[in-house]
Amino acid sequence: MVSNDNRHVVPVADPAALANAAAERVIARISENPGRIAICLTGGSSPRQLYQILATDAWRSQIPWDRVHWFIGDERFVPADDPLNNMGMARTAFLDRCAPPANIHPIPTATADPTDPDWGAALYERKLQSFYGADTLDDARPLFDLVLMGVGPDGHTASLFPDDPALDETARWVVGVPRANVEPFVPRVTLTLSTLASCHEMLFEVSGRDKRAILTRLFAGENLPANCAQSSGETIWLVDREALPEDFGGQ
Ligand code: 6PG
Repeated sequence: MVSNDNRHVVPVADPAALANAAAERVIARISENPGRIAICLTGGSSPRQLYQILATDAWRSQIPWDRVHWFIGDERFVPADDPLNNMGMARTAFLDRCAPPANIHPIPTATADPTDPDWGAALYERKLQSFYGADTLDDARPLFDLVLMGVGPDGHTASLFPDDPALDETARWVVGVPRANVEPFVPRVTLTLSTLASCHEMLFEVSGRDKRAILTRLFAGENLPANCAQSSGETIWLVDREALPEDFGGQ
């Protein structure tokens, strides 16, 4: 059993309501910080609708784009223009139209050796440390204002897969993951649990009936990566009614 003590589950109606609720959290976090803001995005299909609505006038006009920096919590180790690339998806959905290029911080994948994700991990670790201004994370000064997350069918989050040694990494900020546990089966780069935890808020987005089985296991406290990921501040799970287990009010 794992206790994810500070998890706050927020049920929402459907994927559209989920995207709206997530956009509200993005704006709320931005409004808490009058200075430089760091948001860590996630990949997969769940955040796509959020990213798309952030580019619409109603949301776009509420974001001080010059002050917001966009990072990514994990990456498939494929070229930046590969359709599988997580930051590529976010760029297409909203960043390239809205954010200054210097504020977009992708995990580097342009290497001659596509089997060496540690290469990208080491570079991204340095990038994050330089942005943060130190190579040790201070609980009193979180790295990110907001970290977005998703959940895979095996309980993974970011690219932290069940029983993978990356879960136990405490020194490195970013690691290479040679083998993914689920599709797409390409090497990954992922921020480690302690790096992801260094945030004011961690926000999970989970939707669809095919997530209900894994959510049932997670909410029962099973020792799975998504249950080990929590913010040093607030941890919020936005879950739509198709994904929500019946015990928690799902239909
Ligand atoms: C990735 C992710 C991963 C994702 C979950 C959920 O690169 O695949 O970052 O952790 O968030 O697998 O993915 P879906 O949103 O597609 O269900």
